[in-house]
Order: sequence, then C-alpha cells, then structure tokens
Amino acid sequence: MTQPTQCLSLPSEQDEDSSSQAVSSDFQNDVVAGLSQERKSIPCKYLYDQRGSQLFDAICRTPEYYPTRTEIALLNEHAQEIADLMGAGAHLIEFGSGSSLKVRILLDAAPGLASYVPVDISHDHLMQAAAAIAKDYPKLKVLPVTADFTQPSKLPDATRSGHKVGFFPGSTIGNFTGAEASAFLQNAAKLLGPGGGLLIGADLKKDPAILNAAYNDKAGVTSSFSLNLLRRINREIGGTFDPSRFQHEATYNAERGRIEIFLVSRDLQDVRVNGHTFNFESGERIHIENSHKYEIGEFQSLARRAGFSPQKAWVDDKNLFSVHYLEVTPL
Ligand code: TRP
Repeated sequence: MTQPTQCLSLPSEQDEDSSSQAVSSDFQNDVVAGLSQERKSIPCKYLYDQRGSQLFDAICRTPEYYPTRTEIALLNEHAQEIADLMGAGAHLIEFGSGSSLKVRILLDAAPGLASYVPVDISHDHLMQAAAAIAKDYPKLKVLPVTADFTQPSKLPDATRSGHKVGFFPGSTIGNFTGAEASAFLQNAAKLLGPGGGLLIGADLKKDPAILNAAYNDKAGVTSSFSLNLLRRINREIGGTFDPSRFQHEATYNAERGRIEIFLVSRDLQDVRVNGHTFNFESGERIHIENSHKYEIGEFQSLARRAGFSPQKAWVDDKNLFSVHYLEVTPL
C-alpha cells in the first residue's frame, strides 16, 4: 500500500495485519462519536486509507500544494549543514516515517549515522519501507519500530549509547492542536534525551490566497481526498453517505492561524452509519482537519516551552516553508 510519503501525515491504520479488526471498530467508534457531537467532526487520521494515501500523494504533485516540494528543496539545499548539526554517529529517529523517502536526503548527506529508526503505526508498510532503505544503504543499521508516534514509545536498546536526532517533516506538527503539538515535542525531548536534536518542518503563515489555493487545487484532487473519507465510511463500516451531496471546504482562519477543512452538507439529509442516524442541515459541516501555520518566532517559542533550544531555521526565498533544527535543552 502507499502512505502519505512525500507529505508525511498522521499514520495510516490501513494495513491488513492482525490489528485490522481492532482498527475497524476504533474507526466505527470514532466516526459515531464524532458525528454525534454538536459540532460534527471525524479524526483526520482516517483520511489515509490506501486510496486516501494515493490521493494525498497526488495533492503533493498539484501546482498549488507548495509544502512538499519546498521542504524537499530546503533539505537538499542545506543537507550538509544539517548533517553537521546532527553530528557524526547519531541515531536518526523518524516519527511517522511512511515510505521513508525524504530521509534519503539526510542518509546521503550523513553517511556516518549509527542507525536509522523509522517509527510508524502502519506495520506492514513500515517493514517494506525499512527493507528498501536497508537495501539501498547496506552499511546502515535500520531498526524499525511499530508505534503511534504521538504516544510515548520506547526506542531500541541499540540507541542507548550515542546521541539521538529526531526527524519530523511535512509540517505534520501543524495538524496537531497547540496542546497536542506541545505534548508531542515534550515527549520527543524526553525520548531523544540530553544532547538530542530534532529536525522538523513547519509551514509558515503567509498570504491567505496562497494558503487557500494550496488546499483547494483547481483540478479538485483535494476535494476527492476529503470526500474519500465518506467513501471509506461507506466501504468499511456500512455508511450510507452520498458523497455528491457533500462539498469540500478549506479556508484560512487568520485569527487562529490555521487552515480549517470541512465537508459541507449540500442539503438537508439523513445518513446512517452502523445503526445510527445522523441528521444534516443544509450547510452543516463535518470538521476533518486543521493545518496550523507558524511564524519562525512563534514556532521557536513553542519549541522552547516544550524543552528545546532552537539552533537554526531555514526558509525558502519565497517565505513559504521552514525547516528547524532544535536541540534538547539540558535540564
Ligand atoms: N498534512 C497536510 C497539511 O496540513 C494535510 C492536508 C493537506 C490535508 N491537504 C489536505 C488534509 C486536504 C485534509 C484535506 O498540509
């Protein structure tokens, strides 16, 4: 299966492994709970089933969606400086590693790494991606960990000696609330420990017209991606959504500094999901995703409050996207 590879995102739970039963009932519970609220919502991680992951990759190739190509260009341009900051002999830990594509830029620039530890919830896909890395980097110790990167997790014993550097690209941190972003960073600081570093991508605040275009591409790929969530509910948990009666909506909320993404009911309708009936007013919305945008200083203070000392931030010449190198603040 494919993952949101170029655009790393919340981990997919689509693998057909032993946990697929549990995943599908989690999915059902989360959808029913989310649609039962006064303000309807569905957790964004469910956007990334196999079809969703393919559509997300297609979003990354639309002319409007600048984050992926801008981040890759920044990593390429500054690879040597990044490798110098990471230091020789580091263990490189990637949170939500997906297909492990962006990390190749770092692996090429830092041949002396002690190990590469891709962490992803999607077990089968993780194993495939780890095998591909091991094949292309035969001298590198590859130590995959199947885990939800938002939860505290344990790293392989082999990473105990030597320092650790985390990698969290794609501005996935922007899909967290402020509180979740802090919690993620605090946990990362604990996991990486004294002397640790974190290389992290964050999308910048900018002209709302550019942001709105990035989440409403002309070809309609983003709209298909959002609506695929309803198709997935129909497919996997017996929903009766008619996707043609819903519309993708993404708008920048300047006050909150984030793109807010919804599916909007085009008319008055009832939808059933697994024995529950949900009523939609015309124009009523299901919230499916936020994507927070951070100015450099804003992101650095978030990082400081969570136990990191910012070392360096790289920005492209159009001020679209930022990549930060942070170090765990000594206690
Ligand atoms: N991580 C992506 C982002 O914040 C998620 C994303 C991009 C997305 N386009 C979307 C989510 C459209 C829902 C709908 O940029």
